[in-house]
Amino acid sequence: MNELNIDILERESKVVLPENLVFGKIYTDHVFEMDYDPEFGGWHNATIKNFSKVELHPAAISLHYGQSIFEGLKAYKQIDGRIALFRPEKNIERLNRSAKRMCMPEVDSNFVLNSLLELIKLERDWIPTRPGHSLYIRPIMFATEPLLGVRASETYKLIIMLSPVGPYYPEGFKPVPILVTDKYVRAVRKGMGEAKTAGNYAAGMLAQKEAKKEGYSQVLWLDGIEQKYIEEVGAMNIFIRFKDEVVTPALSGSILPGITRMSVIQLLKDWNYNINERLVSIHEVLEAYENKKLVEIFGTGTAAVISSISKLKFNEKLLMFDEVKPGELGMKLYEELTGIQYGKKEDKHGWMTYLD
Ligand SMILES: Cc1ncc(COP(=O)(O)O)c(C=O)c1O
Repeated sequence: MNELNIDILERESKVVLPENLVFGKIYTDHVFEMDYDPEFGGWHNATIKNFSKVELHPAAISLHYGQSIFEGLKAYKQIDGRIALFRPEKNIERLNRSAKRMCMPEVDSNFVLNSLLELIKLERDWIPTRPGHSLYIRPIMFATEPLLGVRASETYKLIIMLSPVGPYYPEGFKPVPILVTDKYVRAVRKGMGEAKTAGNYAAGMLAQKEAKKEGYSQVLWLDGIEQKYIEEVGAMNIFIRFKDEVVTPALSGSILPGITRMSVIQLLKDWNYNINERLVSIHEVLEAYENKKLVEIFGTGTAAVISSISKLKFNEKLLMFDEVKPGELGMKLYEELTGIQYGKKEDKHGWMTYLD
C-alpha cells in the first residue's frame, strides 16, 4: 500500500514572489515524488519533500531512449480567495494514457490527485493573486534504470513540481502569427503524437526555431503522411471558424488530446455552434479564405487558454486576420474559460476541483 509521507523542513521565511514571473523559471520550495520498482511492489516512497535536484545514473534509460512523459495544468486563486484546479483528473488520465503508450507504469489516479492537492495546500502562499496569474503544475515521469540495452526500464520516478506564472500574454490577449510547415513533420498516425512525451517536443524544435527567425511565434503542423491535413500548433490544438461551421482536427492518433480543446468543444456545443471534429486540409482553409468563408482561427491550450491567430503563412500564401483585435469567438471562449477558472463565471460542468 502506497502511503503519502511528508518529509519537509520548515520554511525559513515568508514566500516573496518576484514582480515579473517568467514562465517556468521559478519553482516552489516543495515537490511530490514517488518511485516505481516492481521489487518494492510498484509505486512506493510517495513523499512531499523539499525541492532538490535529482540524482540520475548517466545510463538511465530516459536519457538515452526517451521514456519520459509529463503533464501541464494550473491552480488558480479565485476572486473569493478559494484555490481551484481546472480538470486535474483529465491530466492524470492523460498521463496514464501517455504512460501506456511509452511502456511505462500507470499511476493510481486518486492517490496522485490527493497527493497533488496536499502539495498545493502546503504551497498555497506561492499562488499569485494578480489577474491572469496562476500556479503551473508540472508532473513528470521518467525511466531511471541504468542500462544501455534497448528495452523498457524496470524503474521510474514521478515528480510533481510547481511554478508560479504570470499571464501568457503580459501585454494582453494579442493575436499571434503562425507558420504552417511542410518541411518537417511532428508525428505520424500510430506513432506517439498523442502521448505527452519528451520526444514529440524535441521533434518540433528545429521547425520552431526556423519559424521564430521568420517572425512567427509557433508552427502549425500538418499530418505526417501527406502533409495535407491540419494537426495542431506547437503547444496548442487548433480551431478554424468557417462561416457556417467551427472545425477542429479529429484526434487521429498524432495529435495531443488537449483538455482545453475538450472544454472548448463542450462550450461550443452548449452555445449551439455547429462544431465538428473532422479532417480539415490546409487547402480547404486556403480556399475558404479566398472565398471569404473563413472567419477566424484560434489555438487552445493550458498556457495561453486561447490564442487568436493574426496571420497564417503556408509557402507563398499569406492569410491575414486582425493583427490587433482577437477574433470574436476566440475572445468569447477566453472570457468564459478564464471566468470559470478564476471563479467569476458559473462552473456549470463542475470542471473546477477545490482545495478546501
Ligand atoms: C502538443 C500540444 N498540443 C496541445 C496542447 C494543449 O493541451 P491542453 O489544452 O491540455 O493544455 C499542448 C499543451 O499541453 C501541447 O503540448
